[in-house]
Amino acid sequence: MSALEFDSVSVRYGKLTAVDGVSLTVPSGQVVGLVGESGSGKSTLARAAAGLAPVSAGRVLLDGVDVRRLPRRRPLQMVFQDPYSSLDPRMAIGESITEAMPPGPSRAERRAEVARLLELVHLDPDRAAALPGRLSGGQRQRVALARALAGRPKVLIADEITSALDVSVQGAVLNLVRDVQRRLALSMLFISHNLAVVRYVSDVVAVMYLGRIVEAGPAEQVLTDPRHPYTRDLLAAAPSAHRGLLDDAGTGTDALADTEPADPHHPPPGCRYHPRCPIGPLVHPDRTVCVTADPAGSAGARPHRAACHFAA
Ligand SMILES: Nc1ncnc2c1ncn2[C@@H]1O[C@H](COP(=O)(O)OP(=O)(O)O)[C@@H](O)[C@H]1O
Ligand SMILES: [Mg+2]
Repeated sequence: MSALEFDSVSVRYGKLTAVDGVSLTVPSGQVVGLVGESGSGKSTLARAAAGLAPVSAGRVLLDGVDVRRLPRRRPLQMVFQDPYSSLDPRMAIGESITEAMPPGPSRAERRAEVARLLELVHLDPDRAAALPGRLSGGQRQRVALARALAGRPKVLIADEITSALDVSVQGAVLNLVRDVQRRLALSMLFISHNLAVVRYVSDVVAVMYLGRIVEAGPAEQVLTDPRHPYTRDLLAAAPSAHRGLLDDAGTGTDALADTEPADPHHPPPGCRYHPRCPIGPLVHPDRTVCVTADPAGSAGARPHRAACHFAA
């Protein structure tokens, strides 16, 4: 078991600050769900942990060690949204999985390990010789998961892993990921734009908006007692539990406000949510502090924190 810690991490692409001073911990053996609308910087944060995005300030630590000092074969693996592009179409799935294993074991041991991993993700080990093209999207995503697990990670980052799948198979893949995470006691950063999906798997929920974490805390608390107006707006836009957990219609974060979408190239001054905020200066003109002062610092390190001058 391992803890992944983002310590004031920023990632800049030219003039754009995609991730801005994010501090977030994925505790050992827990699932931290990261939610926020498209473009908020979720994938960039994940990529920073995997060494795939340039960290311009701050550090990412794995059990206290800066990930930049870890060996190339890091104890951290990612599963991405697109199971079609993450597997080599010409390579049998068993080979793809074998390729991701640490070197050492004999052929027979590797073959047994492939079978074990395929069983772990509920695929028939006899499919090891199949090419990815023979599999459905959900099955390919299972293979992508098996491939990530082949690297024996301590930390798994799942970035929108159900977003490209048919709604009908999303639930099964989510159940599988949650089951595997528990069985292997993995620490997991689970990313989705869909709050209903995040709610389903997370112990801790963190909400990202324009490169910042605006609220974070125990899932139960954040989801039943949200403090940041953005989180409340996200919850209001998400479908209720009985209306089909994974029905993407209506979870759209674009269902949010009729106001201008956020432009990461020109983040507003003060609180970044103020131009859309239902409790900010749009509605309460006297709340000028939202325009003049950045509430980021007020989030603190409390278990349930929200960066809002008027947090409930
Ligand atoms: N390699 C890159 N070069 C330049 N800009 C990027 C790059 N990757 C992401 N961005 C920008 O960073 C912002 C955050 O993107 P991303 O992390 O993909 O958000 P999310 O995963 O939340 O949708 C977006 O404005 C995106 O256009
Ligand atoms: Mg993304």
